[in-house]
Amino acid sequence: MKRLTASYLPPITLAPRSGIPMHQQLSEWFRQAIVDGQLRPGQRVPSSRSLAGELKVSRAPVISAYEQLYAEGYLETFVGAGTCVAKSIPGGALHQPRTGLRKAPQPASESSTPRRISRRVELMRAPPQTWANNLGAFRIGMPALDRFPSGVWSKLVNRHSRKPSLELMAYGDPMGHLPFREAIAEYLNTVRAVRCDASQILVTTGSQQALQMCAHVLLDANERVWMEEPGYPGARQAFMGAGARLVPVPVDQEGVDVAEGIRRGRGARVVYITPSHQFPLGVTMSAARRMQLLNWATRNGAWIVEDDYDSEYRSGGRPIASLQGLDTDERVIYAGTFSKVIFPALRLGYVVVPKDLVPAFFHARDAADTFSSTLYQMVMTDFIREGHFARHIRKMRTLYVERRTALLEAIQRHLRDKLEVIGTEAGMHLVALLPPGVDDVAISIKAARHGVSARPLSPCYASPPARGGLILGYGGADIPEILEGVRKLARCI
Ligand SMILES: Cc1ncc(COP(=O)(O)O)c(C=O)c1O
Repeated sequence: MKRLTASYLPPITLAPRSGIPMHQQLSEWFRQAIVDGQLRPGQRVPSSRSLAGELKVSRAPVISAYEQLYAEGYLETFVGAGTCVAKSIPGGALHQPRTGLRKAPQPASESSTPRRISRRVELMRAPPQTWANNLGAFRIGMPALDRFPSGVWSKLVNRHSRKPSLELMAYGDPMGHLPFREAIAEYLNTVRAVRCDASQILVTTGSQQALQMCAHVLLDANERVWMEEPGYPGARQAFMGAGARLVPVPVDQEGVDVAEGIRRGRGARVVYITPSHQFPLGVTMSAARRMQLLNWATRNGAWIVEDDYDSEYRSGGRPIASLQGLDTDERVIYAGTFSKVIFPALRLGYVVVPKDLVPAFFHARDAADTFSSTLYQMVMTDFIREGHFARHIRKMRTLYVERRTALLEAIQRHLRDKLEVIGTEAGMHLVALLPPGVDDVAISIKAARHGVSARPLSPCYASPPARGGLILGYGGADIPEILEGVRKLARCI
């Protein structure tokens, strides 16, 4: 038989001076709680001994109430599982008259008039993401989970959790576990040319939280933020959630158009960009645009939030150094994540903050959710220090090139006349533009019905684009899945 979880003690209040016998008060309480759904079919109830102990009464009235409830079919017992609410409640029980008992309240959420919530959150609502509900081919941001070294990982988790240290279990530093921050700083110095030391690293629950922290620390309500057009919808939500006014700035072959940004977004406090691998188009920001942006930010006292979410996986040409490394005025806040290089459910990322902003970020994180899980920070420290991280990235880089090549060849074979592919140099996704006039959201919905997750391009724009497209992730699907996925897409377009 299935093991049941331990029973919780229900919030029963007895009225000793009411004149109603104790066993009757108890049986009425249970009956009503079962009828109202507060206690669910199959849920375990406390033993008579522990309930009597909790209520500070003798066991006799509890036993008598339970016996009555067995007789009526509300409770049943299983060997080894104790006393439970019956799996099926006696017929008509749900419509029994209620004598002197609480009336179930009408849930306000069922009322026809929507109740007032903040305007900021109303604006943050995203359209339903049909394409995100399946784990089939082309889901974006999904690494090759089947190739993750789970044996090594579970050994490291065991190492720290078998005999957890006090440090692992107690409250931790809002900035993060120091050895982890040291390992991140070393990695970023070496691989991404980010100029920082461990004191500037704030560990977050992924880069989504890093963006939220930036929005809260850097902006007041109604201040302007440049957003890439098209851009990352998660960043839009993070900045909107802080009450910012978003200024869409077009992206071309050289990345965000800085001159256009200066024209449209005068007085902006923050610029959000993905310079190493623009999301979603995949372009790399040119050196000239980088210098132009840094100079403008220095002259105007603006902040630049650099979201470097997947540049570990650059295949062609030289690795692109971070924008933060070029910044001589400490204007860039650099955000990164382990979601793409380890796995998204780990929920670990980081922000590199200029030294004078460290106290502000510390307090913002402390006020938000205090700190990230120490266990996983310790495990990741070992994973990096013992060389597993670098090895895994190297292997995945080769694998993603193979998967991307398979996807490109399959598109060439089946969809050459329908899709124009762009943004193939780095990361784990590419963009396939559809012919003008084709509705990308409709195609995505159709593809989702075939078990393929093809995210539409147009929701990444603030205003409808001239041409829609599909954002196709290839990291999380093996080659047979990719080939099958393209065949299914060909049927949808
Ligand atoms: C451009 C970009 N930034 C940030 C994120 C957020 O990543 P996470 O919050 O999982 O670290 C993503 C996720 O796909 C992304 O594509």
